[in-house]
Amino acid sequence: MTPAELHNGDFAWWQRGVIYQIYPRSFQDSNGDGIGDLAGITQRLDYLRWLGVDAIWLSPVNPSPMADFGYDVSDYVGIDPIFGTLDDFDHLLAETHRRGMKLIMDFVPNHTSDQHPWFLESRASADNPKRDWYVWRDARPSGAAPNNWLLEFGGPAWTRDEITGQYYYHAYLPQQPDLNWRNPAVREAMHQALHFWLARGVDGFRLDTVHHLFEDPDLTDNPPNPDFRPGMSPTLTFARKHQVDLPEVQEVLAGFRRVTDAYDARLLVGEAYLPLEKVMAYYGTPHAPGVQLPFNFHLIGATWKASAIGDLITQYDGLLPPGCWPNWVLGNHDRTRIASRVGADSAALATMLLLTLRGTPTLYYADELGLADVPISPEQVRDPWELRVPGFGSGRDPVRTPMPWDGSPHAGFTTATPWLPLNGDFAVRNVESQRADAASLLRLTRDLIALCQRTPALCVGGYGIIESRGDVLTYERLWGEQRLAIALNFSGTTVYTPLPHSRVVLSTVGPRTAELPGSLLCLRPFEGAIIEPTQQLHGGFSA
Ligand code: NOJ
Repeated sequence: MTPAELHNGDFAWWQRGVIYQIYPRSFQDSNGDGIGDLAGITQRLDYLRWLGVDAIWLSPVNPSPMADFGYDVSDYVGIDPIFGTLDDFDHLLAETHRRGMKLIMDFVPNHTSDQHPWFLESRASADNPKRDWYVWRDARPSGAAPNNWLLEFGGPAWTRDEITGQYYYHAYLPQQPDLNWRNPAVREAMHQALHFWLARGVDGFRLDTVHHLFEDPDLTDNPPNPDFRPGMSPTLTFARKHQVDLPEVQEVLAGFRRVTDAYDARLLVGEAYLPLEKVMAYYGTPHAPGVQLPFNFHLIGATWKASAIGDLITQYDGLLPPGCWPNWVLGNHDRTRIASRVGADSAALATMLLLTLRGTPTLYYADELGLADVPISPEQVRDPWELRVPGFGSGRDPVRTPMPWDGSPHAGFTTATPWLPLNGDFAVRNVESQRADAASLLRLTRDLIALCQRTPALCVGGYGIIESRGDVLTYERLWGEQRLAIALNFSGTTVYTPLPHSRVVLSTVGPRTAELPGSLLCLRPFEGAIIEPTQQLHGGFSA
């Protein structure tokens, strides 16, 4: 199959494409308030088209008191004035589509804001018709919270409400009460919200924290966390055994899927931080499909060594149920940036890994520039997680800083003081300067995306041999007669690895001699290379 046939062919757009995550507060400010907005994103669409991504995913832009920066929604069918208007949204969507890209919204089903009208009604009285839309329980006889469950950001997961004296449950902040997904009216209301956006033409949703949708109805206390050690954040004291991943989640996902499948070519991505074996259930079954892409976050926590990454690839691919499509994530708005995790020297290698693994990659904004976590002083902290449990490194502000577009004041992000500080090196680490530098990570990222999109083996092909030898990880990608190998040197020294009769198609450290003589491939420190055989080999590249 030729690339042209492939692109019209058997694979869905979300299987062939690269998803780019935008944290809207930090992408582009268009109205001079120091906070990014929808009109700003529209202004920057040409950049995304130039980069070559296929879809953008926006972290939440719905009305919100911003206790958790948009993950506390007070209206599922509106746009927060900080980000603009519904017209701005429609314009962004139309302009995204006009450039041949897709737009995925964040959807937060587990909880609302405590300012959502549903919750205001629910808390008004014990017999309010919306009482059962949330999870209310009596205190224990002692007056204490119903059980020992903790919320993700520190503290008890129950808050006593003065009006009735009952407690409500919240897996996250007290300002984020959990919805009661056992109530059919909640499901119906949330389906209506999805229809609202689908009918406007939105191409899919990233479903927030779906593993939290249900809790044990008996409220069984959680056991102590066996991995807890002194010095760890108190949020980790107990294993969250009875708070997450109940089997009823799958019914809700199947319900969402019925909604989106009523429209053409829409995508559901699910966020569930779970062991790989458990993530697989989020694909659903052939009779009750779940989300098309349950996020695979396991590169984020993986040991950065050739053998560990090789094992992860093999394990993940082996666990995938038949017909299910893989995906990979290196970073997002909740986790330390990849450049900080693996070091600036390895950022390009990591990008090549992400973009050449089998499955849909999600690229976090500014990772294409090699942006590192930005130090945040105590007075600058905005993230509620860090504010609640300071000093354990939970804060997410360092990974949410503004996109550096150029070397001008405020990096072209805003004309005002940005809501979070810019990276200290923005004068050199910015889009404009990296666009002009053929050796930059930005240009490599663009070249990689373009190469993958025109090369079926890299875009949708299967794996051949996957192996690690010392510090080198090698995996093959195959499509019909097309065979390429990716060789990644995780070490800071030059290494030689068996790879005879081959030609380097693209390297993370710049051009090199075309044909490789002899039977050894030389990889420079932290070099990644995409390699094509120059003669037909049997049984793979490796000698
Ligand atoms: C996961 C989101 O990624 C995170 O940013 C948010 O704080 C929680 N869910 C709560 O919605």
